[in-house]
Parts: sequence; structure tokens; C-alpha cells
Amino acid sequence: MPLKIIITGASSGLGKALAKHYASLGAILGLIARNKTSLESLVNELPDTVSVFYAIDVRDAESMQSAASDFIQRYGCPDIVIGNAGISQGTLTEYAEDSKIFESILATNVTGIVNTFQPFVAVMRTQGKGNLVGISSVASCRGLPGGSAYSASKAAANSYLESLRVEMFRSGVSVITICPGYIITPMTANNPFQMPFIMTAETAAKKIVHIINHKKIFSVIPWQMGIVARILRLLPNFVYDRLFSIMPRKPRG
Ligand SMILES: NC(=O)c1ccc[n+]([C@@H]2O[C@H](COP(=O)([O-])OP(=O)(O)OC[C@H]3O[C@@H](n4cnc5c(N)ncnc54)[C@H](OP(=O)(O)O)[C@@H]3O)[C@@H](O)[C@H]2O)c1
Repeated sequence: MPLKIIITGASSGLGKALAKHYASLGAILGLIARNKTSLESLVNELPDTVSVFYAIDVRDAESMQSAASDFIQRYGCPDIVIGNAGISQGTLTEYAEDSKIFESILATNVTGIVNTFQPFVAVMRTQGKGNLVGISSVASCRGLPGGSAYSASKAAANSYLESLRVEMFRSGVSVITICPGYIITPMTANNPFQMPFIMTAETAAKKIVHIINHKKIFSVIPWQMGIVARILRLLPNFVYDRLFSIMPRKPRG
């Protein structure tokens, strides 16, 4: 039986690379993003694969439920659901106009994952199997200056995924949290700073597939970034504050 996989944020970057990787393994794909044209052209690039796409917003719970029902009706319950859709933008609390951006980042990066998993949790629990994969970020390990909304959203995503993992304990359903470091995608294209250990989207996708296959519950990729994340977490606040107050930041807007 081919694997059945739902991927959000499939129209670009990491999600697209994951879709192509799983397509090369003969998986049945359900691809979600807002940009219909990009999804259509991706599906046309994957001619030998059974793929359906849903041009919807992960913030819209009802649309996500309808897409999930449609996929389940056509192919049955997916084996893997990857909550990958995400946005990133520089934000500063002192600017009132950044409030809307805060809301949007939190709604996409946190509630978006909840909306992605919700329609599948009960079905997977009944079947006693399935993998719910959340794409977080290494930015979750400390509050990054200039990236407050993004760091907060990814830290919240980690906590949400941990709660869900414990809720699903011994159910047969795995909840997997993956925190990538820098990946070459449109999200990082305009970052005005050095990005250590940056990976191509294809390399990141391969690492993610390996993690899912091994059901590792929490991973930072690549491993070098895992060491950086550990060191950052161990840094006392007075050292972290001095060091990161002078670091270059993601620009606003
Ligand atoms: N690039 C990095 O260095 C990096 C590092 C760590 C973690 N990540 C995480 O990896 C994930 C993928 O990012 P990426 O680098 O591949 O970025 P990307 O190229 O900008 O892709 C983001 C994807 O999310 C989709 N998306 C955004 N908002 C959405 C919404 N409201 N509803 C549905 N889909 C939405 C976009 O599609 P539409 O615009 O068509 O909706 C697009 O397909 C994100 O969660 C990101 O935070 C990235």
C-alpha cells in the first residue's frame, strides 16, 4: 500500500521539497497552501503520483476539516500529516502596526498546526496508528530579538506538540516535533545576516523523512544546529542578553 500523506505549506520551500520527496516514493499526497497556481503547477510536476490539492488557509478550521474529510473519503486516513505551513517576519512590540503581524504569525504557525491535525486525531486514535509531524524552528529555543512573533509562535508550537504527544501516549499515534535551522527557501531569501549550517530544502526534506521513519519525537536539524541550540539554552540570561542585543535582526515589514 502506498503511503498517504498530507502536507501543508506545499506550494513553496520545504513543503514542496517534502512533496517531491514523498512523490518519488510513490506516496498518495494531499497538498495544502493558499496559492492555487503554485499547487497546480507542483501537481503537474508530479505526473506519476496520485495527488490532490486544496487551495485553502490553515487558519480556517472549517476549510481544513472539509479538506480532511475529502481526503479521507477518497483514500482513507493518512499515515502522515505534516503541519509545515508557516510565515516569518520581523516584528517590534513598540510599533502598533506590528500587532496584526503578531496575530497572523501566531494564527498561522500555532493555530494552523492545530487546525491541520484536529480532523485526523480521532480517526488515527481509532486506527491505533499515524504520525502527526509539526515543523517548528530552532528559533523556538530562545527569544530572538526582532523575531519576537516568530520565536514566540515556534516556542508555542513546541509546547502544543508536546501536550498533544502526551495526550496520544500509548495510542499508537506518534507526535513528532522537528526544529530546522536555516533552509534555503523564500522565507530566508532576504535575511541580511550570515546563516550558519544553512541547508537546501531537499537536504532538509531528506532529514525530516528520516526522522519520521524513525519516529524520533524531538529533533533539531542539522545536528550542528542541535548543538548550537543546546548551548543557547544553557547560556545564562545576562550572557544571552549581551550577546544577542548586538546580533543582526530579521527586518520588519
Ligand atoms: N526556511 C527556514 O530557514 C526555516 C527554518 C526553520 C523552520 N522553518 C519552517 O519551515 C516551514 C516551511 O517554511 P519555508 O522555509 O519552506 O517557507 P516558504 O518557502 O515561505 O513556504 C511557506 C509555506 O507555507 C504556506 N503558508 C503560509 N501561510 C499559510 C496559510 N495561512 N495557509 C496555508 N498555507 C500557508 C505557503 O503557501 P501559500 O503562501 O501558498 O499559502 C508556503 O507553501 C515553516 O513552518 C517555517 O517556519 C523554516
